[in-house]
Amino acid sequence: MNTLNTLGVEKPDYSNWVSTRFVYIPAGLGLLCVGLSIVAPVLIVVAVLFFLMSLYFLYARYRFSPAGGNVQAQVQDLVLAHLDWDGQGKALDVGCGNGPLTIKLAHKYPNAQVTGIDAWGEMWEYSRRVCDRNAMIEEVAAQTTFQKATASALPFADESFDAAVSNLVFHEVRDAKDKRELIREALRVVKKGGRFAFQDLFQWKSIYGETDELVATLKSWGITKVAFIKTSDAAFIPTALKLPFMVGTIGVLYGEK
Ligand SMILES: C[S@@+](CC[C@H](N)C(=O)[O-])C[C@H]1O[C@@H](n2cnc3c(N)ncnc32)[C@H](O)[C@@H]1O
Repeated sequence: MNTLNTLGVEKPDYSNWVSTRFVYIPAGLGLLCVGLSIVAPVLIVVAVLFFLMSLYFLYARYRFSPAGGNVQAQVQDLVLAHLDWDGQGKALDVGCGNGPLTIKLAHKYPNAQVTGIDAWGEMWEYSRRVCDRNAMIEEVAAQTTFQKATASALPFADESFDAAVSNLVFHEVRDAKDKRELIREALRVVKKGGRFAFQDLFQWKSIYGETDELVATLKSWGITKVAFIKTSDAAFIPTALKLPFMVGTIGVLYGEK
């Protein structure tokens, strides 16, 4: 990993959501199929499919990166754009990864104290160490705290935070069968009247059901204001990335507790 920018200054590492293994593994399997096609010619078709898969992920990785338009950062910015908060008090970022949203929150709200939690498992190349380093480079270390915890049982008392955000985390959490319970858990630690903005695959019906019903469910929990926008409708999302497993089913649930 190159940790210096072109001026030799240390740069933060937010990592790309499309890891290089999504490019290399299908490419490797494609090459294997080409080799095996000597004994089973039909495997050439499978090889082509693997190469196409590899190319698709290479394209997605490029578009998410700063060089390819920074779609990843723009998706994160959409969460903050829907957090209608005055920035006074404490905010929580559930599943902070390498801390991009935590750090963006700290920049946007200089009076706020922001906590980022994550389980930092093997599925992702993220860590608390990188979060701390990123916060230092971005000059918000005094405003930010990073802590290992699971989104399914947040280690905070009810109503501890004035605001909460989360970006593309809930669908990943393995220790929660019903992912809606993770929204409930995140809202539990928000003060009454506090603000929230959560982005996830909320239009993936087998995970969250119908969006109208999801919004109604939050209201049935006593949440004062709940609204929803489809991220996939945003002009900055390239059409090729609107597949359901990329950003085609994501949206932002936001409002006031
Ligand atoms: C797609 S990444 C998003 C990271 C970050 N929010 C961002 O915008 O870059 C999904 C994150 O969910 C985290 N995660 C997975 N299971 C979790 C759990 N049980 N509790 C907290 N975080 C979890 C992963 O470690 C990873 O950082």
